Amino acid sequence: MARHILPQPGLGTYRLKEQVVIDSVTSALELGYRHLDSAQMYGNEAAVGKAVRQSGIDRRELFITTKVWWDSLKPKQLTASLEQSLENFGIDQLDLALIHWPSPNGEVPMADYIGALDAARERGLTKHIGVSNFTIAQIDEALTLPGGENIITNQIEVHPFLANRKLVTHCQAKGLEVTAYMPLAVGKVMDDPVLKRIAEAHAATPAQIALAWIAARDIIVIPSSTKREHQQSNLEALEIRLREEEIAQIDRLDRGDRVANPDFAPKWDE
Ligand SMILES: NC(=O)c1ccc[n+]([C@@H]2O[C@H](COP(=O)([O-])OP(=O)(O)OC[C@H]3O[C@@H](n4cnc5c(N)ncnc54)[C@H](OP(=O)(O)O)[C@@H]3O)[C@@H](O)[C@H]2O)c1
Repeated sequence: MARHILPQPGLGTYRLKEQVVIDSVTSALELGYRHLDSAQMYGNEAAVGKAVRQSGIDRRELFITTKVWWDSLKPKQLTASLEQSLENFGIDQLDLALIHWPSPNGEVPMADYIGALDAARERGLTKHIGVSNFTIAQIDEALTLPGGENIITNQIEVHPFLANRKLVTHCQAKGLEVTAYMPLAVGKVMDDPVLKRIAEAHAATPAQIALAWIAARDIIVIPSSTKREHQQSNLEALEIRLREEEIAQIDRLDRGDRVANPDFAPKWDE
């Protein structure tokens, strides 16, 4: 498998705020997680930063991602958003800054926000840049723009009920890492009979099987969990090796079942 810039796995933090996110990040760091996925829209950057500081872990060992919300894509606002994120976290450089969603209806030209994002990287506000929720056509456009050559990942929804195969294949063929958000379909994987059966054969849980299936596709996973035992088992999931026929059975669970589909989403690839 290819070497990743993003550490595998990351800890998701969507919906988690204040003491809940502090406790979740603290326990994940104790267990060995080194990659934290936040966003300015989550309203938890300051709490994540607090947990990081309290951990005493050397900043250089950590990989901290945040995202710029779609209402801040004009160059000046994008720069201000990243500066605000750094202040919120209490750090002087991000590891990865993502465009959270492409500009709805192309209202802000992509060249403007990809250029501004890369300018922020050149200024040292972030080590790496990337995008999230970009379609195949948007990835192709972004990669041809000045600064677009520095994009390292597209963070997209991937789980057994939404394999997102065309987009994943396209991104990987272009040399991008794919990061899977909602890898557990926000907990729905736990109820699936096929995943349950495969889990039993591995003395594992359906969540672990879902993560192992995604990781086998050379995709970074960022499950979120507030429970230490879930965080631990999500780490251990990456040791599970699925047999070919198990992978084929999970492949057949794909039903295009999208969880994140707000009204400002782009026109998704089929
Ligand atoms: N770029 C984007 O637009 C975007 C969109 C959505 C999400 N994200 C990112 O992706 C991350 C992950 O997505 P998500 O948090 O929405 O959903 P998720 O990771 O698919 O699912 C999280 C849910 O699964 C449960 N869970 C976690 N581990 C488990 C385990 N081992 N066994 C049973 N249940 C388990 C959690 O409950 P407990 O707390 O009880 O463990 C939580 O309710 C987010 O936190 C965020 O960082 C990005």
